[in-house]
Amino acid sequence: RRAAVAARAARAGSLDELRAAVADCTACGLCASRTQTVFMDGTGSRGVVFVGEAPGEQEDRTGVPFVGPAGQLLTDIVTKGMGLHREEVAIANVLKCRPPGNRDPRPEEKAICTPWLERQLELLGARVLIPLGKHASGHLLGTPDASMGSMRGRSHQRPDGTQVIPTYHPA
Ligand code: URA
Repeated sequence: RRAAVAARAARAGSLDELRAAVADCTACGLCASRTQTVFMDGTGSRGVVFVGEAPGEQEDRTGVPFVGPAGQLLTDIVTKGMGLHREEVAIANVLKCRPPGNRDPRPEEKAICTPWLERQLELLGARVLIPLGKHASGHLLGTPDASMGSMRGRSHQRPDGTQVIPTYHPA
């Protein structure tokens, strides 16, 4: 199923096409309980992409990532801390669907969903990825068991040249 997602993602030539393909995804069981998929917010025009773990209840309801209480803090970090408009960064999640009851994403769910995220980052032309929290950070760095303390506080480089700067999850 991951291969099918990867093939479908590769055929998407734009973020709009990718968003539509994601909205149709039934590759894992989360499609049965979601209200809708949550693709991303913002334009990423600064080359910066925040990556959370998975949509929560309010995100599942609205279709927009980080709109709940954690989202308010993230908006403050972007606007007050970084001096950018929220629309200038892109905000996405490793998973595009809400796990029921906000349980942790399962490894196979992340594996199946990752080609969507990787194509999304490619189409965005992302230069700097800021994973939020231990799960997203370990996922993007390929070190799922690493502690937040060991990943945070420095910039990592991925093989494709993008920088990864892990930070705490705003929740
Ligand atoms: N937490 C996340 O990791 N992602 C969201 O979209 C909302 C809360």
